[in-house]
Amino acid sequence: MGNLLVTGGAGFIGSNFVHHVVEHTDHHVTVLDALTYAGNRESLAGLPSERVDLVVGNITDAPLVDELFGRADAVVHYAAESHNDNSLHDPRPFLDTNIVGTYTLLEAARKHDTRFHHISTDEVYGDLELDDPDRFTENTPYNPSSPYSSTKAGSDLLVRAWVRSFGVRATISNCSNNYGPYQHVEKFIPRQITNVIRGVRPKLYGAGENVRDWIHADDHSSAVLTILDQGRIGDTYLIGADGEKSNKDVVELILELMGEPADAYEHVTDRAGHDLRYAIDSTKLRTELGWTPSYGDFESGLTATIAWYRDNEAWWAPTKDGVEAFYATKGQ
Ligand code: NAD
Ligand code: TYD
Repeated sequence: MGNLLVTGGAGFIGSNFVHHVVEHTDHHVTVLDALTYAGNRESLAGLPSERVDLVVGNITDAPLVDELFGRADAVVHYAAESHNDNSLHDPRPFLDTNIVGTYTLLEAARKHDTRFHHISTDEVYGDLELDDPDRFTENTPYNPSSPYSSTKAGSDLLVRAWVRSFGVRATISNCSNNYGPYQHVEKFIPRQITNVIRGVRPKLYGAGENVRDWIHADDHSSAVLTILDQGRIGDTYLIGADGEKSNKDVVELILELMGEPADAYEHVTDRAGHDLRYAIDSTKLRTELGWTPSYGDFESGLTATIAWYRDNEAWWAPTKDGVEAFYATKGQ
């Protein structure tokens, strides 16, 4: 049994990981989360208090981080500003949290010689043409497009430098787009599900041809735990579940599964610099560490996710109007 420190553990994917760790290991978990607009303590509700503590604080707070690293056997770093559209509106918090925050954690990992796993995104690789036969691998050059993805790329490079220059025992994973319960309604899939629940037509940016490679958050969590246990120090692992779909196909499927006509959506202003396609080749993770995703079927995962948003309106309703007011200012 060990003490895990999970930054950003009150967010969408971090809280999924905390639930996963409690269910599948004997580790104790301390969550460090600033509870920004994206964090929600309700996402940790029901977890046993003897297994999980929540420390409300900022990853840029070096004395607090130092104290928490002093008590941790390993750290998994999810905390980030995570939404591309917000990064186009105001990049500053992305620099503070994603760059300075990661730097602050790396300095503590260096001082305490703490095992560190850094969570990142496939968006650091830029985008692919729709007909490109290649997918992203661990060797694809970095080519980020947005303030969000460039700050994530910067944080990955800091981790690599702290491994090489200071011997920090770190691994990195770059995952594709996640879906599942507890995702903030600013993101594509929950925004459209909650729009349909509210009787509002889903909003597709541009023509809707952009492709994302969907993975259920449960599969992301099982992959991270595998890398934490078995990953080679200094290595990067790509996480993906072969789930490429165009945004238009996803919206049509959501509408169909929710009993609405498949064309009951509208096209809205496209995102500036909108990446066309992401696609992950996760061969390394599968062959070297033996990981496989458990959700073979996007439709059943999406059906369960729709049911969760229908059943948990109290979790998302307080944030919905503010999100829609923000999008309305941009014609989205
Ligand atoms: P999220 O926005 O839902 O959650 C982020 C969490 O971090 C929130 O709980 C927030 O309160 C916390 N946080 C933000 N700034 C903080 C700070 N300065 N100090 C402490 N806590 C802070 O994000 P998510 O979608 O769960 O993403 C988690 C991680 O996974 C991010 O690093 C993101 O880049 C990465 N990722 C996300 C996806 C995806 O599809 N969402 C895919 C690949 C990788
Ligand atoms: P998003 O969930 O923001 O994730 P990311 O930007 O990290 O891929 O968006 C997923 C895709 O959906 C992306 O191509 C943008 C598009 N999108 C829409 O078409 N409509 C929307 O309302 C939103 C939020 C996103």
